[in-house]
Amino acid sequence: MANKKTLPSYIECDYLVIGSGIAGLYFALNAVEHGKVIIVTKKKASDSNTWLAQGGIASVLGDDDSFESHIADTERVGAGLCDHEIVETAVKEGPKCIKDLAERFSVSFDTRTGDSSYDLGKEGGHSHRRVVHVRDLTGKEVAERLLEAAKNHPGINIYEDCMAVDLLSSAKYGGANACFGAYILDKSTNEVSTIVSRVTVMASGGAGKVYLYTSNPDVASGDGIAMAYRIGGAVANMEFIQFHPTCLFHPEARSFLISEALRGEGGKLVLESGERFMGEYHPDQELASRDVVARAIDDVLKRTGEDCVFLDMTHLDPVFLQKRFPNVYETCLSYGIDITKQPIPVVPAAHYLCGGIKTDSYGRTSVQNLLAIGEVAYTGFHGACRIASNSLLEGLVFSRRAGKVARDLGWQNPSVVASWSAAGAIDSDEAVVVSHNWDEIRRLMWNYVGIVRSTKRLQRARSRIGLIREEIKEYYWNFKINSDFLELRNLALVAHLIIASAQSRKESRGLHYMLDYKDPVESMQKDTVFVRGSGPPPL
Ligand code: SIN
Repeated sequence: MANKKTLPSYIECDYLVIGSGIAGLYFALNAVEHGKVIIVTKKKASDSNTWLAQGGIASVLGDDDSFESHIADTERVGAGLCDHEIVETAVKEGPKCIKDLAERFSVSFDTRTGDSSYDLGKEGGHSHRRVVHVRDLTGKEVAERLLEAAKNHPGINIYEDCMAVDLLSSAKYGGANACFGAYILDKSTNEVSTIVSRVTVMASGGAGKVYLYTSNPDVASGDGIAMAYRIGGAVANMEFIQFHPTCLFHPEARSFLISEALRGEGGKLVLESGERFMGEYHPDQELASRDVVARAIDDVLKRTGEDCVFLDMTHLDPVFLQKRFPNVYETCLSYGIDITKQPIPVVPAAHYLCGGIKTDSYGRTSVQNLLAIGEVAYTGFHGACRIASNSLLEGLVFSRRAGKVARDLGWQNPSVVASWSAAGAIDSDEAVVVSHNWDEIRRLMWNYVGIVRSTKRLQRARSRIGLIREEIKEYYWNFKINSDFLELRNLALVAHLIIASAQSRKESRGLHYMLDYKDPVESMQKDTVFVRGSGPPPL
């Protein structure tokens, strides 16, 4: 592997950042002012959900917009579970972060023709145009600028192809439950190193790979949530999985995202016959929130027996479409679909995890010195359903805030740290167990814990995941680990947490829709929180 830095067997640093999306990079670039940073990322630094984020960053930047309006939209879509203080913080600090990206990191957000003000996009659930963007490649443009700055900073070291195995906790050494680093598998050598850090920052992103169809890259296997849960971190609201309504339906496309911004610019959802259908489901039609649109498409597909619906952009100016959505235009064209002339075949796919490791407004988790930021965290910003383009905003605001408190956290490591032991483990001769179980989990989650759920389906999923996790446990003790197996172990635990959370919410709210409990229940307007060893699930 050219230019691949091999991880030394033992390192100490102030900040160990696990993950290289917007949150991890922005934290690193803020925290490096007061300490040495190591970023580990399990593939290339560019393999993250951030790079695929097309729509943009929601923030109050237009003259006709207001903080109150952004807060109200976020909370309405969040269906009663948003934390008001967190929402206020994120919304009010958003413009500062956008300014910082533009001025310190030279991100050139699109401006209006003949004018220096931002060209703001509109997306579902937002009552105003407030999505700042770089064409339809916002995440990539922002992440590229941040990554370049991080690579050039002498205080930040990035190790690619390095996957965290488990977090280190001083509770194992007789102390309080404080995190002081992690065991990290260097995939190029298959050796496990020990990184001891003053502060450990989980920024490992979401868990879309738990589902058969997802807009997420392969790295999104929920590792951070599984690791935090294993050392006693509180995990919240895992039942709220967002399905993006419009991913490209094509046998070779691997769920390429067709940005919500297309609907914001007038895209219409139609059946094969050309008939629109969103009017039957919501007065806001294509710009209703994602839970509503994804459920409507699911319903229409079940009723008609068709394989996909279509997003029709053909009534819009072809020059505008090519300029505003070059990525969608070129990618669709490479699959033989000219979006200026033909409707785009689309289906929903798992897209974003609204729950995660529970944190406060500074990224602090229930484990001392373990911070969590970005999609892996549950701050309370999204509640039961995230409004479009609020995720990059959350990643920026709370990683900046985490950077501030990290400075004051003291060392928590024991004087001697045990290195990783694989004593007795042998090379696996049963790799098929790993691939089979990966596939089974993703299918059962798609079929039983998807857009529409029921008590019976969840029970089926629960019994199957239990058996799979037993098999994984046995494999873990007998065989040497590798990254595929580690991902499977994490994926299975995260699937279990999603199922158990969904089972405990006997109502429908936001993204969690139950056929046998179709309405929200007032007494259930609270977070679902699980901590290992106290209450369900029995893992
Ligand atoms: C999109 O462009 O539709 C995805 C952006 C997001 O999920 O916020």
